[in-house]
Amino acid sequence: STNTVSKEEGLDHTLSLLKEGYDFIPNRVRKFDSKIVETRILGKKTICISGKDAAEIFYDTNRFKRKGVAPGRIQKSLFGEGGVQGLDGEEHRHRKAMFMSLMSSECLKVLDEITEKQWQIAIDKWKSMDAVVLFEEAEEIMCRIACSWAGVPLWAKDLELRTMDLSAMIDAFGAVGPRHWEGRRARTRTERWISYMIRQVRTGKIAADEDTALYQIAWHEDPKGNLLDIKTAAVELINILRPIVAIGRFITFGAVALHENPEKRNKVFTDEAGYRQMFVQEVRRYYPFGPFLGALVREKFTWKGYEFKKRTLVLLDIYGTNHSPELWEYPDIFWPERFSEWDGSPFNFIPQGGGEYDIGHRCAGEGITVQIMNTSLKYLSGKIDYDVPLQDLNYSKLRIPSIPKSRFIMKNVRHV
Ligand code: HEM
Repeated sequence: STNTVSKEEGLDHTLSLLKEGYDFIPNRVRKFDSKIVETRILGKKTICISGKDAAEIFYDTNRFKRKGVAPGRIQKSLFGEGGVQGLDGEEHRHRKAMFMSLMSSECLKVLDEITEKQWQIAIDKWKSMDAVVLFEEAEEIMCRIACSWAGVPLWAKDLELRTMDLSAMIDAFGAVGPRHWEGRRARTRTERWISYMIRQVRTGKIAADEDTALYQIAWHEDPKGNLLDIKTAAVELINILRPIVAIGRFITFGAVALHENPEKRNKVFTDEAGYRQMFVQEVRRYYPFGPFLGALVREKFTWKGYEFKKRTLVLLDIYGTNHSPELWEYPDIFWPERFSEWDGSPFNFIPQGGGEYDIGHRCAGEGITVQIMNTSLKYLSGKIDYDVPLQDLNYSKLRIPSIPKSRFIMKNVRHV
């Protein structure tokens, strides 16, 4: 016999989702004392699941699929249409392999050289500035790194516009109203720009280096041997550029963590016993970014005594899993040392998704993210010094994606 899922009363809880933000699923998990809770979002029955076992089932591609999951409003802003996020089965494996081929150790080495160089350029600029708003500057540094590494020409006069647009797509994902529309306009403009670049490569008007994302995506063939249509190619190249800019958010949270834990600063810089890596991991666990992920049930199945009917939307709780008291001791304390004992499970620490990279949908850029954060925090913890004037560093857990209110202002930046 099957149990019934704890079910929230009421017609629709879309408004609660907007009001409760990152705590939408965790609040329900607590209220019903269950890792499986049924609710209604955007007029559809939705099952929320949380925790390590939940992540394990969610990443079983025999049970769940992604095609048709992302709502139109998310596709029109954050993801774009036709990208890897919405593919399943062989089509997904083939496209994902192209993404993963860009993550070889040689490609990551090139990326690290670019990262170092761009930080040095930025710091030289900051030394002559009165005040630096780290979040804005970090996104700009990341935009330069992203374009340089991906092989996309970026003219100095366009840097601000392109950074703003890539940033706006990210900022739109939990928004309704102006922030959402800003994200849509940004996507339209960015797709136009990147489509042009793909066309330039295909017609031989610009020469792209073979190891770059620009080249690999422009000339990627689907399993039948056809090139991607221009718009899809642009969506996929933006799937490289946009999330590199997103790392600016984790860098800003990292600066907050350094500021609020001054005794850890030197250990991060000297990197004793791999401390910097643990600090980076803790930033990715502790601070809110992705709230949850969605997938659809392929065929009806029963799990832990509960029935999951075909085509039901299931949401996996990212934020709550990373803050689960069952998985993490003192989950709401920033404590990098915890990672010296982490078991490396692909299912209990899921800021960028879980499971496997090649078969599943786990973030293709997780290694890149950790590497760029590591180098960035080296600069922020010891290559430079700066004053942190009084400001509001609080961040709202109702705003998706979240960011400290003051965006982290630094003054009197100087080389150490
Ligand atoms: C997928 C988070 C950085 C490329 C994802 C997913 C999450 C995520 C939650 C979805 C996993 C799933 O659907 O199961 C993040 C965060 C980042 C980040 C928080 C840093 C701020 C990056 C970077 C890149 C990247 C730097 C590439 C340069 C991708 C791609 C996918 C993806 C291509 C789709 C994978 C697939 O559907 O198979 N990311 N990501 N991400 N990410 Fe990231």
